[in-house]
Amino acid sequence: MLRLPSFADPHVHLREPGSTDKEDFYTGTCAALAGGYTALLDMPNNPVPTTTEAALEEKIGLARAKIVCDVGFNFGATPDNGSEYPRIVQRVAGLKAYFGHTHGNIIFEGLPAMLAIFLSWYPAERYPHKPIMIHAEGATVAAVIGLAALYNRRIHICHLSKKSELAVIRAAKEKGIAITCEAAPHHLFLTEQEAAPDKLGAYAKMSPALQTEEDVRALWQGLADGSIDMLATDHAPHTRAEKDSSKPPFGVPGLETTFGLMYREVAEGRAGFDLARLVELLAIAPRRVFGLPEGEGEVEIDETDKYEFSNEGLYTKCGWTPFVGMKGQGRVRRVWLRGQLVFEDGKVLAASGSAKILSFEG
Ligand code: DOR
Ligand code: ZN
Ligand code: ZN
Repeated sequence: MLRLPSFADPHVHLREPGSTDKEDFYTGTCAALAGGYTALLDMPNNPVPTTTEAALEEKIGLARAKIVCDVGFNFGATPDNGSEYPRIVQRVAGLKAYFGHTHGNIIFEGLPAMLAIFLSWYPAERYPHKPIMIHAEGATVAAVIGLAALYNRRIHICHLSKKSELAVIRAAKEKGIAITCEAAPHHLFLTEQEAAPDKLGAYAKMSPALQTEEDVRALWQGLADGSIDMLATDHAPHTRAEKDSSKPPFGVPGLETTFGLMYREVAEGRAGFDLARLVELLAIAPRRVFGLPEGEGEVEIDETDKYEFSNEGLYTKCGWTPFVGMKGQGRVRRVWLRGQLVFEDGKVLAASGSAKILSFEG
């Protein structure tokens, strides 16, 4: 058995309110415990987006009654909601800015909108743990790094998918620009070929899209050499009916599959790094970067357990995984949160609403 600090995921879509057919605060946080996570940061792209104090308060109220692991929130940026920030800043982990096509209706492209968002958030020294979390791809990644440097804003690049994006992030870090980034498991284990209609099809459709083998190799290298700071699942469940429709939405779930996928690569010597680095990527770095409490959760893992991922027995309400048929190693047997056993052998023991809403002073 391995005993590790529990994992923390800075990037999940728990879907409540507005899309509880896909997931809700209870099912999403159960999936988190099953995956070894005890702290999550939720994203704001709900049908009524979390871009106002009222929407944030509604979300916090709903979550408080249901969560079985700790949850914090990222606020949604628009070019003109800066007047909300002084009222919400103590209650959020960061500001999420969508600068490219994806699921939801808070996407703002082009320099005027990007500039307005950058200028209305806080300078890096005011809130070093509250970055602007960026959804962007390609040249837009270089553009946001430029804005971060020019206006001294802390940025965190979400779900890095391309070798070229990693190259500019590395260069920015070498220049001393305060930037962190994450990679998601789907970009590490699947390539663009998987999105073919005779393979996973819409079940491999996400934003950013799956990339080439060369990009995948570059991401693994980035995890090993430290230029990618952390893993994030970008857990983004959608129903099968939606995925089977003529206009399938972007996104895949990930909370219950990430550790097993990653640990197998480490155990079989393909990852290019060891278990200590995996723990840094899943548990230590997200807490350090986002200022989350440390030492509150533990997970016990049967490291010898090898299995194949299937759509059976998942806690996520969507009931499927894009990794079906792939192999994993290391099963989460027990999870503790603040000394309480909250998950054991496939069963959630924590009562609905027993976990904490994370607050972010300072
Ligand atoms: O694939 C994605 N799905 N990418 C995103 O940025 C949003 C997410 C969602 O909310 O479904
Ligand atoms: Zn995104
Ligand atoms: Zn996302």
